[in-house]
Amino acid sequence: MEIPEMDASLQSRLQNLFNGATRVTVLTGAGISAESGIPTFRGPEGLWNDYKPEDLATPEAFARDPELVWRWYDWRRGLVAKARPNAAHTALAALERRTAVSVITQNVDGLHTQAGNRELIELHGNIWKVRCTACAVISANTEVPLRAIPPRCARCQRVVRPHIVWFGEAVDPYDYQRSVEMTRSADLFLAIGTSGLVHPAAGLARVAKTAGVTVVEINPDETPQSPLADLVIRDRASHVFEGLNFA
Ligand code: APR
Repeated sequence: MEIPEMDASLQSRLQNLFNGATRVTVLTGAGISAESGIPTFRGPEGLWNDYKPEDLATPEAFARDPELVWRWYDWRRGLVAKARPNAAHTALAALERRTAVSVITQNVDGLHTQAGNRELIELHGNIWKVRCTACAVISANTEVPLRAIPPRCARCQRVVRPHIVWFGEAVDPYDYQRSVEMTRSADLFLAIGTSGLVHPAAGLARVAKTAGVTVVEINPDETPQSPLADLVIRDRASHVFEGLNFA
């Protein structure tokens, strides 16, 4: 993909927006972690070109073939284990040290936490957490590779599943409600590296716009949210943040 060098005036407009904001809410998607080596879902090199979500990321797929689903997650956990936060993640953590920042992420890779963000909602769960299919206990599991597939609950020995929101499942209503509140109460909202196709996260840019919040999109590609944005930056997330200063 050929991306033009970012216009310096766009960069200074973005820096000014950050400097003037007292409360920033950021929605992130797979694109922010692409430069950390974690594949996105859609787009030319997206996972959903090679794999079908209905085979791997639905409760029905897991009920049909838990081993297949876990083998795929084991592979992805291996990629995530090697990944480190990039300039975009670390800039958002630096920003949180000087301004009120909330990050709402659709990513399950934990890189925002690794970078240092604390005010964080992982709307789609976390790849290092598992949930028992019988007793529903949620626990951490960081084995790479997994010793046994499918892994089992330490408490009741039944099969566990990834603690991830799959297609056809609802996000935690409390997390969603907090996301809406964080979006409405911000004076600056950014959508970074998300295709804006998966709800309810995809609706947050509209929530921001309706509440009069300034909306910024950072994404090399056009999305359904682009027309809502007051400022659109067509560039890679890490490149945009490398040029900003949050000291
Ligand atoms: N910087 C910024 N954006 C980028 C970069 C980059 N370096 N590289 C790619 N992108 C953009 C793509 O143009 C695309 O719009 O990131 C977006 C990634 O889109 P998706 O792969 O659809 O990821 P996301 O929006 O997070 O998907 C939402 O879909 O499959 C489910 O549960 C999964 O959480 C995921 C949800």
